[in-house]
Amino acid sequence: MQQRQLGPYTVSAIGLGCMNICHAYGDPVSKEQGERVLRTALDAGVTHFDTAALYGFGVSEKMVGEVLGPYRQQFTLASKCGMTVEEEGNRVRTGRVIDGRPATLRATCEGSLKRLKTDVIDLYYLHRFDKSVPIEESVGALADLVREGKIRTIGLSEVSATTLRKAHAVHPISAVQTEYSLWTRNPEIAVLAACRELGVSFVAFSPVARGFLCDVLPSIAALPEKDIRRAMPRFSPENYPKNLALLTPYKKIAEEVRCTPAQLALAWLLHQGKDILPIPGTASEIHVRENLAAADIVLSNEVIERLNNLINQRTVSGNRYSEQSAREVDTEPLP
Ligand SMILES: NC(=O)c1ccc[n+]([C@@H]2O[C@H](COP(=O)([O-])OP(=O)(O)OC[C@H]3O[C@@H](n4cnc5c(N)ncnc54)[C@H](OP(=O)(O)O)[C@@H]3O)[C@@H](O)[C@H]2O)c1
Repeated sequence: MQQRQLGPYTVSAIGLGCMNICHAYGDPVSKEQGERVLRTALDAGVTHFDTAALYGFGVSEKMVGEVLGPYRQQFTLASKCGMTVEEEGNRVRTGRVIDGRPATLRATCEGSLKRLKTDVIDLYYLHRFDKSVPIEESVGALADLVREGKIRTIGLSEVSATTLRKAHAVHPISAVQTEYSLWTRNPEIAVLAACRELGVSFVAFSPVARGFLCDVLPSIAALPEKDIRRAMPRFSPENYPKNLALLTPYKKIAEEVRCTPAQLALAWLLHQGKDILPIPGTASEIHVRENLAAADIVLSNEVIERLNNLINQRTVSGNRYSEQSAREVDTEPLP
């Protein structure tokens, strides 16, 4: 497997997003299936596992800890805080709450360490910038956790270039994790350039467009109530059919390259720079293997240009997030 640099760590070019075994897209899979997915990835050479306190409100971290704990020295472990509250005094609360206050981040980290069955987390992200807390304070709290040996490096998720620069001035940031794929090009506006200037690795989440750039397309009507794609404008009854029309020529290119649609999406990302690390998520061990094989695909400049022209911010219909979720991400301040 091709290797890439994630902050100070050398890891597999393609990692595993561990949200999908229990969160976001329908019902959680069985414990046995979750274990199969994680073991398959480890055995196939994945050395970058990405989870978060938010995913399944601790379930994902617990499963990663239980299944991969015995192999802890073999991989780089990334998790996230700042988007779920576990404890307030004696009251235990779970929910999707953006909270970047230092005491909350510290409490979440203690919970993450226990669930992950580890003494130290290699890369700990602030899952969302809490706009009611200065970024310097949240990152300052994470810097304290580095000094105390509870986490090794700091990451940020879904931040603007401006916020990244402010944070980096407090403590070096090792990685930024943001949605990036053929159909989500936002990082190309400013964040990627800032990462490159500061020497920060870029972790691309939702790299196969939440299942859109894949063989088996999500049928929106058949999605469970809890599936977050139901609330995403690109999957709405108005936009989804228009987006589906892009797939016929896309799949033709995949056929020409002799790969699957998901592999083409991942190969395109890997060709955007050596500093890009995609973390596809899946609850299927077959898809784990399929996705990892994308690291060996070489795309010509001509194919990359055709992909760029076919699927981009102008040709895709609908915003990536609902209004509520869009408010939660940090975008560049207007000049
Ligand atoms: N920082 C953040 O705010 C944030 C937000 C979202 C996600 N993430 C991270 O990024 C990871 C991946 O993102 P994501 O899950 O949203 O999007 P994704 O990886 O683009 O897409 C996941 C979806 O694609 C399907 N899929 C994956 N590989 C496939 C293949 N080879 N063939 C067919 N279908 C395939 C999966 O279904 P199957 O299960 O059937 O394979 C799943 O429904 C997450 O696990 C999480 O770690 C971070």
